[in-house]
Amino acid sequence: MSKLWGGRFTKPTNKLVEEYTSSIGFDQKLALQDIQGSLAHVAMLGKCDIITQEEVEEIQSGLKTVEKKIQAGDVNYSVADEDIHMNIEKMLIDEIGPVGGKLHTGRSRNDQVATDMHLYLREKTYVLVELVESVQKALVNQAESHVETILPGYTHLQRAQPVSFGHHLLAYFWMFERDKERLQDSVKRINWSPLGAAALAGTPYPIDRQMTADALGFDKPYPNSLDAVSDRDFILEFLSISSIMITHISRLSEELILWSSQEFDFIELDDAFCTGSSIMPQKKNPDVPELLRGKTGRIYGNLMGLLTLLKGLPLAYNKDMQEDKEGMFDTVDTLEGALSLLAPMLDSMDVKADHMKQAVKEDYSNATDIADYLAVKGLPFRQAHEVIGKIVLYAIDQNKYLLDLTMDEYKQFSELFEEDIYDKLAPEQVVAARVSEGATGFQQVYNQIDLAKEHLS
Ligand code: ARG
Repeated sequence: MSKLWGGRFTKPTNKLVEEYTSSIGFDQKLALQDIQGSLAHVAMLGKCDIITQEEVEEIQSGLKTVEKKIQAGDVNYSVADEDIHMNIEKMLIDEIGPVGGKLHTGRSRNDQVATDMHLYLREKTYVLVELVESVQKALVNQAESHVETILPGYTHLQRAQPVSFGHHLLAYFWMFERDKERLQDSVKRINWSPLGAAALAGTPYPIDRQMTADALGFDKPYPNSLDAVSDRDFILEFLSISSIMITHISRLSEELILWSSQEFDFIELDDAFCTGSSIMPQKKNPDVPELLRGKTGRIYGNLMGLLTLLKGLPLAYNKDMQEDKEGMFDTVDTLEGALSLLAPMLDSMDVKADHMKQAVKEDYSNATDIADYLAVKGLPFRQAHEVIGKIVLYAIDQNKYLLDLTMDEYKQFSELFEEDIYDKLAPEQVVAARVSEGATGFQQVYNQIDLAKEHLS
């Protein structure tokens, strides 16, 4: 009987059961965290006189040998050893003999696996924060080059009012800023140490949980051993943050796809980020933003999967919880990939400023400004709105834009109109006139860029 827990059993495990219950296929991603946790644990066992200093040193050097082999890809994981924890313990015992069996004193795989996941997620959270920043930098760079590039702003996907393209891009900067803040804030809760909670109830050994918490860079031990081994909130929180972030990525991707269509023709994505069609030679497809948009489904799925997994689980550890890992790994990998592509794709996109400007000239998106013009001259805004509605209707009927109407035509609708109306209606004027805080007026956008830069490290 070669199982680490074989003592109580009289028969070998059914092969199908072994395969079905094993997690080594995916939790090997936690190998280095597992060793890191073990090194902290064994040092503490020595310090607390639970094992001798000699044993500590033997186990530490054995763990380091195993670590080197893992880093060199020089290990064969075995399904029979079920998961990464028992695979490593087996390797350690093969390396240094029975003394390796003392490592598991005063702990359980339940606090061990939780510790590994806390370590893994903390590391990845920092990586993701950096990647989000790289996207934010790309957005600020493009925004800075296009403060005075004007395009139609939309509501209901109908032309509404012209805006600065820089302003439009910066909207995404702030979405990613909140994502980044959420990631950083979540570290507070990732940073509790489950180690030493043992299986569920703690341990009779005089262990020092603060010592292992400190060694692993955690803020404090979980105050409750049952909570320590059952809590997966930190993963739920990560998946929630990720779901919000992929929503932002998807909305931005959708705009890139629309803008690069022939109908909009506002941007062109770099050839390096597009692919062709196997049958239609003229096509250049925005596959990358489409796929980014599509990745939303799997991340929402991972969040729903874990919520469903945890709902109704009694305390403490249950084998169901082994299903917590793949969704977390998948989400980390998906976001790493998405953010790594998004930054250079934004950096390299070509902005067709002339086409954007042309679009603004061919719409009625300056209508609000004529209403404001009359309102400033004393007409109540509601009445002005009514008058301009009639003017727009008239102009559409005449096949003209608002800038094309003559002074006589304007006067038919209100005596308040004067020559200066034409200045007010130029798209640059319409944008520049928006001077309220956070508005699309050019000066406001320059101020916003300064503020954005302050948020980048
Ligand atoms: N592979 C297991 C998991 O990922 C490790 C914890 C196993 N604990 C146990 N009591 N069977 O959840």
